[in-house]
Amino acid sequence: MPKLTIDGREVTVPEGSSVLHAARALGVAIPSLCQRDGFEPSTSCMACVVKIGSSPTLRPSCATIVTEGMEVSSELPEVRKARRASLELLLSDHAGDCVAPCQLADERHADLPRFLRQVAEGDLGGAAATLTTAGIDLDDLDGLQVHRAEKACRRGRNDEAVALDRLIRYVAAHRDHPADAAGAPPEYRAWSVRLGRMTEAEQAALLAGARPGAAVPPADAARGYTPDEARAEALRCLHCDCHAAHSCKLRDACEEYDVPTARLRSQRPAWAIDRSHPDILHEPGKCIRCGLCLQAAERAGERFGITFAGRGFDMSVQTPFGVPLAQAVAAAAADCADVCPTAALSRRDANRSGESNAP
Ligand code: SF4
Ligand code: SF4
Ligand code: FES
Repeated sequence: MPKLTIDGREVTVPEGSSVLHAARALGVAIPSLCQRDGFEPSTSCMACVVKIGSSPTLRPSCATIVTEGMEVSSELPEVRKARRASLELLLSDHAGDCVAPCQLADERHADLPRFLRQVAEGDLGGAAATLTTAGIDLDDLDGLQVHRAEKACRRGRNDEAVALDRLIRYVAAHRDHPADAAGAPPEYRAWSVRLGRMTEAEQAALLAGARPGAAVPPADAARGYTPDEARAEALRCLHCDCHAAHSCKLRDACEEYDVPTARLRSQRPAWAIDRSHPDILHEPGKCIRCGLCLQAAERAGERFGITFAGRGFDMSVQTPFGVPLAQAVAAAAADCADVCPTAALSRRDANRSGESNAP
């Protein structure tokens, strides 16, 4: 069993271990986006680089096998700088919002897309909990201000913003429903990629997942929404938030390495979404080309599986012979989504499914 040092700390690891595994054994955190235990390393992200001895070349720790007496440096400024540069490069080609515009704009950063999904599903207890967690007092809505969130609502660019104020008041009046098992909303995190202004094609792709038509007016304005009206209005939400907002390895690493996002807005690639698969969604603009989904599909014995097409920045995940995604990954769909380090492939989770046809 070889012994090595990482940042001056000694550790002994089983023969054949990678430096990344040795670091984990010591509790040394190294960002690793394209590595997954049991899968072949692709060394595509280069976020896991370390310095070995005095070598001038940094090496990917996930694909470097430990040798006796190795001296690894993981926290030197040059190492952190190189990791940050790798992350910036991955981000420069990333299309999507981590946080929806309404949540970003809301002064309390309430998780409004989640709130709307809960209203659409009739989970009024959960919807109330989402609001109160953000500090909205449902017993006192006199001073409620949601105009910033409504102004930022993407739906407003097509017809009318989602009627957040009316829906919050509706939930306050009907909140005797118990919350479901989904629990409290995840903590708000400010670090977010922003799509900014969307093109017409992008806007159309986003709209395709929501109920068409302008805002639903309450039949009785004095009494507010009925349950059917509230549900119909909530179904107008485009769900601009990311499916992997709280599990994305790219976001975690970029946040830790303080990678700026502002400069990326002018030249971002197009955002698109493939909703044709019954179990998973495909957002090609979030792919970091790690190849893990290709391996997952191959392991499951998929007849078609997933492949890479193109080169360099134009390389993307596709299905062979243009077969539909649902045919290309049938049994392996959930596995592909689960190994994906971002939301390029994601499950249609319970909070986003049902009759809402939301993404
Ligand atoms: S469409 Fe929904 S998620 Fe998007 S900004 Fe409006 S309320 Fe938020
Ligand atoms: S879709 Fe996900 S798992 Fe597949 S190559 Fe892209 S980032 Fe990796
Ligand atoms: S995790 Fe090592 S190169 Fe991606």
